[in-house]
Amino acid sequence: MNDSRSSSMLLVRAASVALLLLLLLAVITSTCCPSRPRVSGPSSPPLAVNVSQHGPLPSLRFLTFNVYGPFSGSSNVRERLSDLVRYVGKYDVIAMQEVFTMSVFGVVIWGHQRWLVDRMREQGFTYHVVPPDPWFGQNAGLLIVSRFPLTEAVWLPYTDWSGIDMWTWKGSIFADLEISDRLSRLKVGNTHLQCGKGRTLHSIQPRNWWLMGLEAFFLHLSSYAVNSCGIYTRSVRQSQVSEIVRHIRETVGLKLQEQHLLCDRCKLGGILLVGDLNIDARHQLKAYQAANRTLNPLEDILLAEQISKGQAVSFTDRNATDIIGFESLDYAWFSSVRSQQLANSSYVYVSGSAQVFGLKAFNETYGVGENKFISDHLALELQIKPVNA
Ligand SMILES: *[C@@H]1O[C@H](CO)[C@@H](O)[C@H](O)[C@H]1NC(C)=O
Ligand SMILES: *[C@@H]1O[C@H](CO)[C@@H](O)[C@H](O)[C@H]1NC(C)=O
Ligand SMILES: *[C@@H]1O[C@H](CO)[C@@H](O)[C@H](O)[C@H]1NC(C)=O
Ligand SMILES: *[C@@H]1O[C@H](CO)[C@@H](O)[C@H](O)[C@H]1NC(C)=O
Ligand SMILES: *[C@@H]1O[C@H](CO)[C@@H](O)[C@H](O)[C@H]1NC(C)=O
Repeated sequence: MNDSRSSSMLLVRAASVALLLLLLLAVITSTCCPSRPRVSGPSSPPLAVNVSQHGPLPSLRFLTFNVYGPFSGSSNVRERLSDLVRYVGKYDVIAMQEVFTMSVFGVVIWGHQRWLVDRMREQGFTYHVVPPDPWFGQNAGLLIVSRFPLTEAVWLPYTDWSGIDMWTWKGSIFADLEISDRLSRLKVGNTHLQCGKGRTLHSIQPRNWWLMGLEAFFLHLSSYAVNSCGIYTRSVRQSQVSEIVRHIRETVGLKLQEQHLLCDRCKLGGILLVGDLNIDARHQLKAYQAANRTLNPLEDILLAEQISKGQAVSFTDRNATDIIGFESLDYAWFSSVRSQQLANSSYVYVSGSAQVFGLKAFNETYGVGENKFISDHLALELQIKPVNA
């Protein structure tokens, strides 16, 4: 073995060891220092709606949108987000995915999250919830902005992940939307599940994070190079759906038990879960049905609405001529909460209000795909309204 060969081998080894140490540190710091989601808004929120005791109650207009903003692989993020801000006037609550931040050694080195939160505040979205920034890598990319107070924010990090998502701290965020002191709250969840189209090979044990990390790094990085997010992604997504449901069961279960003790505005009247599930109802029917069973009694609004039989295309990829690129990934799942303890209000979906649609870029030069949209995803809007019980 000659000198230059052995010194380059040494370099490769040193680099691998450094990387592993980094990974280890990242996992250790993230598990030993659980962080809370950041919530903002005036400390004693003015209740924005003057709910008349007579007459119709107002509908709440929701938008959920994957804005396509990863640290690596996207361009003109700021321009496209600026365009989004020009569209948001008519909504009350907006849930976004892929508003990623990138952190190195606990310092955010990249991202448009703060900028976007400020622009949204200028548009009247006084309240927001974001997931914590990790010690290393991308955060979950989630953001909820709202014109009405968001309370009891929760960050639920997923314990199960695969492949390239080792660099992205996927999870979901929840908060209760409080629209007036006479109405019960609506629990809103926003999530972005594991990426990738991989087959189910076996289920990954959540606790084996270090094995998964090694496996993910050495095995899956190569598959990422050919545009995959890892090979176990279907089972990972299903397990993430289960984690969401477990969380909802626990929090909602507790709330319902003490509902009769709570003030009107502290009660719970509905649950809305939105986001990019990365489960393609068009091409992965079995995976979709499994998620649908787990999420029950939450109901898929697009399916309930018979919008393309629940298979509305919400993702067109960068290349719209590639038929595989037409996928249904974005959803809104909803359930009313009715119980005897519920004093006088609950939430219902406003029939006919859901639709999936593209948002055009204001300047074609940075529009995405053939349609020149501002993201590779389409947006999903819907309305939920409080009703007197
Ligand atoms: C709310 O409605 C009441 C009764 O109609 C009215 O007197 C009051 O001025 C309204 N408050 C606001 C802030 O609009
Ligand atoms: C709910 O009940 C309380 C008193 O029990 C009442 O003040 C309030 O106006 C009611 N809200 C609605 C929306 O009917
Ligand atoms: C989804 O779940 C609901 C409730 O369990 C069921 O009625 C419906 O048929 C399911 N839809 C599909 C496509 O599996
Ligand atoms: C788009 O997809 C088609 C079909 O897979 C392929 O032939 C074409 O080269 C792709 N175009 C681009 C710009 O990637
Ligand atoms: C679109 O962007 C290009 C490049 O920045 C610029 O030259 C052009 O004037 C812009 N068009 C419009 C309509 O703003």
